Amino acid sequence: MCDTGRMRQINRVMLRAALTAEEARFTNSHPRSLALFEQAKAHMLAGVPMNWMVRWVGRFPIFAAGGKGVHITDVDGHDYLDLCLGDTGAMTGHAPEAATHAIHERAAIGNTFMLPTEDALWVSTELARRFGLPYWQFALSATDANRFAIRLARAITKRPLICVFNWCYHGTVDETFITLQGGVPRPRPGNLGMPVNPALTTRVIEFNDIDALHAALAPGDVACVLAEPAMTNIGIVHPEPGYHDALRQITRRTGTLLVIDETHTMCCGVGGFTRAHALQPDMLTVGKAIASGMPAAAYGLSADIARRVTQLIMTDETDTSGIGGTLAGNALSLAVMRATLEHVLTDAAFAHTTALATRWVEGVRGVIQEFDLPWHVTQLGCRAEYWFIDHPPRNGGEAAARVDAELDRYMHLVALNRGILLTPFHNMALIGPDATEADIDWHTGMFREGVLALV
Ligand SMILES: Cc1ncc(COP(=O)(O)O)c(C=O)c1O
Repeated sequence: MCDTGRMRQINRVMLRAALTAEEARFTNSHPRSLALFEQAKAHMLAGVPMNWMVRWVGRFPIFAAGGKGVHITDVDGHDYLDLCLGDTGAMTGHAPEAATHAIHERAAIGNTFMLPTEDALWVSTELARRFGLPYWQFALSATDANRFAIRLARAITKRPLICVFNWCYHGTVDETFITLQGGVPRPRPGNLGMPVNPALTTRVIEFNDIDALHAALAPGDVACVLAEPAMTNIGIVHPEPGYHDALRQITRRTGTLLVIDETHTMCCGVGGFTRAHALQPDMLTVGKAIASGMPAAAYGLSADIARRVTQLIMTDETDTSGIGGTLAGNALSLAVMRATLEHVLTDAAFAHTTALATRWVEGVRGVIQEFDLPWHVTQLGCRAEYWFIDHPPRNGGEAAARVDAELDRYMHLVALNRGILLTPFHNMALIGPDATEADIDWHTGMFREGVLALV
């Protein structure tokens, strides 16, 4: 840990002035995006097709024109190095050839039948090989995969509650929109139109707190713990040594199922964090990039869970089970999943992107050290991130308390104005397979320029 007392602090007056200058530069250099945004307000809420898009750092989002590999272009003709990658949906890079080819081939002979295709066999076999869970089902989004896993957990354990970590994110799953506020579980700020107070459905505890885990599961009324194996949605929070062993032991001892959400942590390699660290979940969910950004997700089950679940779905009422969907497991998404797993998200791709993420971290760390800033930078496979705190946070509560919205906004705008797209809700970079060392060094230079204006 560093001694912040002796470290250089950001000059807030300089920050505000620099932020104003960057905002003006952004607005002036994106006239076409601005014009489209103004038009879009006529028929889309807040001028965007999906509400999160208001969260980009400029006064308006850039309108994308296209993308290839790790570069995208906007309607004003700018080219960007894309380190956001559709916030993981495009971890494969944009329009990877194998996926594009599979889309064309499959679309020409039918997208959806509500019948299995042979691709489903290949994909489920490959997912079993990668993640170590023998049985698989499919959905259209990671949110749905999590929703279905939770329902199955409740159905087979006959327990009402789930347990999640403070400041987790698992998609728009009602049960998970809960945080600890002053130690009290409350609906997460922003949680709109909740069906019930999530405190009625969910226990929420801090990550890396074994005592809290004991206490939450001891009553024996929790169906499952739903966990990212390393948190990625309130910044990256790594598990402490021994935490996963404790999580597995305590869940087993209390008859609680362990559901690992690999949607983001798939950045750790072909079998995600689970394979890299030999975890043994009862269920595993994954989505977003698994079909190169086409709507697709999957959830895996251990042999024991599969045996208990199969009895429940082999009924005449399975279509009203609350699990599944008309387009889930459709032929198109399975064809693209197959192409993605076979040709894009490969061992070789992860070796390349992980090495580049290490280079990204070394570059950023060099600047942090050069300017003696109380910040730190961390890596999770091909994902990396800097945070305005001098040591890695131990849990979501600690990370959330150190969000610096003004500084976030500034660093994102500096990047955007110099042709680099970062993930909007974090200072996070995801490295796609087509990235080069020159791309990474470009980011380091931009990062240094941004810092230089503040100190
Ligand atoms: C860990 C995790 N799980 C699930 C989801 C939900 O993904 P989707 O929005 O594609 O349903 C997200 C989205 O950010 C996520 O980060």
